[in-house]
Amino acid sequence: MLEGGYGAIEEGIKGVEVGILINNVGITYPRAMFFHEVDQLKSLGLILKPPLGSQRSLIGPVLHRRRGAIVNISSGAAVVVPSHPLYAIYAATKAYVDKLSRSVHVEYKQFGIHVHCQVPLYVATRMVSVVAAVDKPSFFIPSPEVYAKAAVEQIGIGSRCSPFWAHSLQWFLLGLLPENLLDIWRLSIGLRRRSMS
Ligand SMILES: NC(=O)c1ccc[n+]([C@@H]2O[C@H](COP(=O)([O-])OP(=O)(O)OC[C@H]3O[C@@H](n4cnc5c(N)ncnc54)[C@H](OP(=O)(O)O)[C@@H]3O)[C@@H](O)[C@H]2O)c1
Repeated sequence: MLEGGYGAIEEGIKGVEVGILINNVGITYPRAMFFHEVDQLKSLGLILKPPLGSQRSLIGPVLHRRRGAIVNISSGAAVVVPSHPLYAIYAATKAYVDKLSRSVHVEYKQFGIHVHCQVPLYVATRMVSVVAAVDKPSFFIPSPEVYAKAAVEQIGIGSRCSPFWAHSLQWFLLGLLPENLLDIWRLSIGLRRRSMS
């Protein structure tokens, strides 16, 4: 998709009334890794460009209509837990998505463009099967279909949310715990995954 650059997107949507842009693209590490082991430049470039480039491409055309929505997908890895050891760059890029979305939301609300950041926790997708060896949905881990339904229902409501109700419950419960306990918990998960890979 990115090969033609964002100029190709701008060209492609000329004359098309785009109502909603969903920036869903995301990649993470193939396995749990310490910060120094990751090819940072490659990872950062791949993850940071899509939400910035595609939003910039779309905002111009939507601005004159004063109506539209941009949905960016962040992650509980950045927003819900205080740290995400052994996936640090992934979590940092998702924090970037969160801050970018919330700032752009405030900038463009006055022009009728709704920029919305969604914060999923685990969803039983290909990414989670690789990262967490989860291959089927459970109470806290919805199927992509169940998650997508909840996500679509929340577009246009507020600047940020975790659309699936059980994720919101987890967010609330985790918020009650001390940060150092969450750090220890996340580190133990990262190290366990590393030892399994
Ligand atoms: N699943 C979770 O538990 C979870 C939790 C929190 C946040 N998220 C976020 O939710 C979003 C969706 O994740 P997912 O779980 O559905 O991941 P996924 O199963 O790995 O799917 C990622 C999607 O992004 C596309 N993609 C990756 N790099 C791309 C690139 N450079 N250009 C164009 N498309 C690209 C992939 O396309 P191909 O199919 O062509 O490879 C795929 O369709 C991501 O932003 C992820 O960070 C997921």
